[in-house]
Amino acid sequence: MIHCEGLVKIFKSDDIEVVALQGLNLTVEQGEMMAIIGNSGSGKSTLLNILGGLDRPSAGQVNVGGWDLLKISDDQLVEYKRNTVGFVWQNNARNLLPYLTALENVEMPMLLTGKLDRAYAKQLLEWVGLKDRMHNKLHQLSGGEQQRVAIAISLSNRPKMLLADEPTGSVDTSTSDQIMKIFREVNRELGITIVIVTHDLTLASKVDRVVAIRDGLTSTEFVKRNPNLDLATVEGALNGGLQEIHEAFVVVDRVGRLQVPKEYLEAVGIDGRASMEFDGERIVIMAPKSLEGDK
Ligand SMILES: Nc1ncnc2c1ncn2[C@@H]1O[C@H](COP(=O)(O)OP(=O)(O)O)[C@@H](O)[C@H]1O
Ligand SMILES: [Mg+2]
Repeated sequence: MIHCEGLVKIFKSDDIEVVALQGLNLTVEQGEMMAIIGNSGSGKSTLLNILGGLDRPSAGQVNVGGWDLLKISDDQLVEYKRNTVGFVWQNNARNLLPYLTALENVEMPMLLTGKLDRAYAKQLLEWVGLKDRMHNKLHQLSGGEQQRVAIAISLSNRPKMLLADEPTGSVDTSTSDQIMKIFREVNRELGITIVIVTHDLTLASKVDRVVAIRDGLTSTEFVKRNPNLDLATVEGALNGGLQEIHEAFVVVDRVGRLQVPKEYLEAVGIDGRASMEFDGERIVIMAPKSLEGDK
């Protein structure tokens, strides 16, 4: 369903460049329900926005459901967003209309694409446990109920893939459990691929697979369908405690810049300046040899 290789996203403003994704690799099978976990600022939202067609990648490969998101045209992107992706955010105020009922809110995107299907809208609301509340106006619903309406909306275009950015970020534990249950049901019943982005390590146990992202790089798939997945493992991976992280790919961008893992730099004592040797085959980077006192 999803295949990213060496995915790079650089945000450029006047004179600052932020490399939010620096060569990320990720593969997600169709029908999987997985989580991407990482600390704040690690590039999770950037990745999700690219997968959702809300933002454009800078370089690398990103293929979703047969679409090449690097080369896709603007018109195709509209079609892609309409037919392939459903999106759930932490704060859903941006796609809910407070003075319409829950049902009307779910019907709205259907109306916009000319495919109104009231029976399906009702079914979706039933799925998310709002059968008895569907004729209530949005502002009469609790935060958790509104979040469930948002999930129903995200499914209204019958997407193949659901992307959720911190979907349980602003709700209590019981609502969070409920939301994860709904995702699981949707995944099982409709076969929709689900990618949940979160910094909440406790969600890890509720998905099939967890991939950690650190500094815009996937720390390889450190937990692959691991039945013994626990918080310590996830935390370890996030903090660089697992072996695999030392095998992270290093990406060389178009102008030849690459980022060397901090652990490597520290291990050989490189600080601010390095010496480089090329023997025709390998490039060796090491601490400067004869620059004592010249830091
Ligand atoms: N529109 C933007 N312009 C400039 N920098 C951005 C933009 N969006 C995100 N960033 C930067 O990219 C990095 C990753 O951000 P983000 O993807 O939001 O992380 P996360 O969702 O994991 O917290 C951060 O350093 C952030 O400041
Ligand atoms: Mg984010």
